[in-house]
Amino acid sequence: SCYQQAKRVLHTAVPERLHGREREAAAVRQFLREHVAARRPGSLYIAGAPGTGKTACVSRVLHDCKDELVGIRSVVLNCMALSSAHAVFPAVAEQLGLPTAGAGGRELARRLERALTAKGPMLLLVLDELDQLGSRAQDVLYTIFEWPRLPGSRLVLIGLANALDLTERVLARLHTSPLPGPRLLRFAPYSREELAAILHGRLQQLRGSPVLEPNALQFCARKVSAVSGDARKALDVCRRAVELVELDVRSQTLLQPPLGGDPAATPCSVPKRVGLPQVSRVLSEVFGERMGPGGPVAHDAFPLQQKLLVCSLLLLARHLHTRQVTLGKLHDTYSRVCRRQQLSAVDQAECLSLLTLLESRGVLELRRTKDTRLTKVSLKVEEEEAQHALQDVALVGSILARGLP
Ligand SMILES: Nc1ncnc2c1ncn2[C@@H]1O[C@H](COP(=O)(O)OP(=O)(O)OP(=O)(O)O)[C@@H](O)[C@H]1O
Ligand SMILES: [Mg+2]
Repeated sequence: SCYQQAKRVLHTAVPERLHGREREAAAVRQFLREHVAARRPGSLYIAGAPGTGKTACVSRVLHDCKDELVGIRSVVLNCMALSSAHAVFPAVAEQLGLPTAGAGGRELARRLERALTAKGPMLLLVLDELDQLGSRAQDVLYTIFEWPRLPGSRLVLIGLANALDLTERVLARLHTSPLPGPRLLRFAPYSREELAAILHGRLQQLRGSPVLEPNALQFCARKVSAVSGDARKALDVCRRAVELVELDVRSQTLLQPPLGGDPAATPCSVPKRVGLPQVSRVLSEVFGERMGPGGPVAHDAFPLQQKLLVCSLLLLARHLHTRQVTLGKLHDTYSRVCRRQQLSAVDQAECLSLLTLLESRGVLELRRTKDTRLTKVSLKVEEEEAQHALQDVALVGSILARGLP
């Protein structure tokens, strides 16, 4: 349906065009040209708040420069997937095809240095989400950023992170030596106009009449730019608003007998547009009163599905004595809880978008991975606090009292 198409275009990770990132994309392209193509080792450090398009920009440029990068070994690694900071070494070694078995930390480091300074084509290493290595990873980061400076190195390194103080603390050490340190590229939060252009650019790919009303789109861009300038959040809000209208329309069409005619014949008609009411509802769910340690308790109770998800998380936390579970596991438990309560359950994709809302309210934290099922969900509030905030003693109490289904 038009709603599914809208959700799909709002979801794409690497769009064709990155509005408002022309300068940054050009800088990355220039860096690749000066280093990879010119066979000069070096490093680039990209920093910016979440959702400012760092990953999208680098992926886009790598994709667009494919032809210039032929014959070059490139490795892209997301540090989120690593179990510890030091796990970055075996991960890189493995990607480079080096044997890792039986090698201790020291030996592995030596093998990596030897491989990176051996004769051969240039190597491009992209390390995304460097923050995930944690604050105790200074020596690890230092080692990595030293690689392009080793005599005879053939490494070109691009590191992406949220925190700028990675440069101030760790990379300051690199800057003190006479060898050139990493080049720094900052991604600023998006402005209202940029967010509007991004949302508009996505939805424009759909033919037919617009699914989202222009004033609703502008409203979303204004609110999100005022809080964080995070394109991911703006896209999430719109997707969620589309979902609300979709559910609404679906429940109404179930009540009405079909009027005959093939619904597939008019695939792009928009039964109901997504307007200000839905977008502002999602925005207040996301940015409204925050629940959380010390913060005010939300006055609007949580929507039912979110309550069910929190209950399931509480049950799992209690049962497994851990505050962190995977989304897959949570979704399984939640589905069973729903079945037992004779309520319908949402699918895993929608589950993730509801969890994103709960994350914005400080109830839990998500660590995203490529595979949605493996996304880590951690409870951020105490059981009592969560129960209190859910404000539905009857339902919550009964679910929790019955234990894991
Ligand atoms: N200029 C843009 N045009 C279109 N879409 C964009 C733009 N910038 C970001 N996006 C989209 O917003 C989402 C978040 O962007 P991205 O993942 O690149 O952020 P990030 O800076 O890497 O964030 P994080 O620090 O959390 O990793 C993605 O879906 C991306 O496609
Ligand atoms: Mg990223």
